Amino acid sequence: MNLIISFSARTNGNCDEIASYVSSNNDKIIYFRNTNNSPCSNCNYECFDGECIYRNDDVYSIYEEMVSYDKVILIVPMYGGNPSSLYFIFNERSQDYFMHNDNYEEIIKRLYIIGVYGSKEEYPDFIPCLEKWFVDSTYNDRVLGIERHLYNQQLNDSVLAIKQVKDVIVEFMKR
Ligand SMILES: Cc1cc2nc3c(=O)[nH]c(=O)nc-3n(C[C@H](O)[C@H](O)[C@H](O)COP(=O)(O)O)c2cc1C
Repeated sequence: MNLIISFSARTNGNCDEIASYVSSNNDKIIYFRNTNNSPCSNCNYECFDGECIYRNDDVYSIYEEMVSYDKVILIVPMYGGNPSSLYFIFNERSQDYFMHNDNYEEIIKRLYIIGVYGSKEEYPDFIPCLEKWFVDSTYNDRVLGIERHLYNQQLNDSVLAIKQVKDVIVEFMKR
């Protein structure tokens, strides 16, 4: 049973479609845009020597439940040359979560990421940014980039209309 999290702003865009495509019957899909979370803002770095002032945010229960699944698949779009701000909010809150939980290994051993973006040639730092979870870990090949511009896709086109994209995702899910 897998947990899939879409970090897209829009309903039924490429990330949501990929989330449905990789999911099986008992898998759970979370649309991060529908959860309540604050970015790191208006605080005094309480997370470093106490508790984050946003401890009631939904992101904490998401981190908690990640360890109950076989795999956790994050699907992250590129906005403005970077991963979406929804993804960065999830990422920022990991500071407080892992300061108080020693299950980083338990989480990253389940973690896989699919990034949807223009192309590696135009944005060489997008995939390395997503790979930061695995620095100093033994886990390789955990991030798949879907390069829309390789297939001349426009904003409203579906990447899953391209057979090669479907094939590469199926292979990635076997890792
Ligand atoms: C605000 C915004 C900024 C974007 N910036 C970029 C960009 O810098 N480079 C790029 O290749 N695509 C960019 N895109 C296109 C998205 O990466 C593309 O629409 C992708 O399919 C997003 O996933 P989604 O369909 O799930 O929303 C942008 C889209 C939006 C809405």
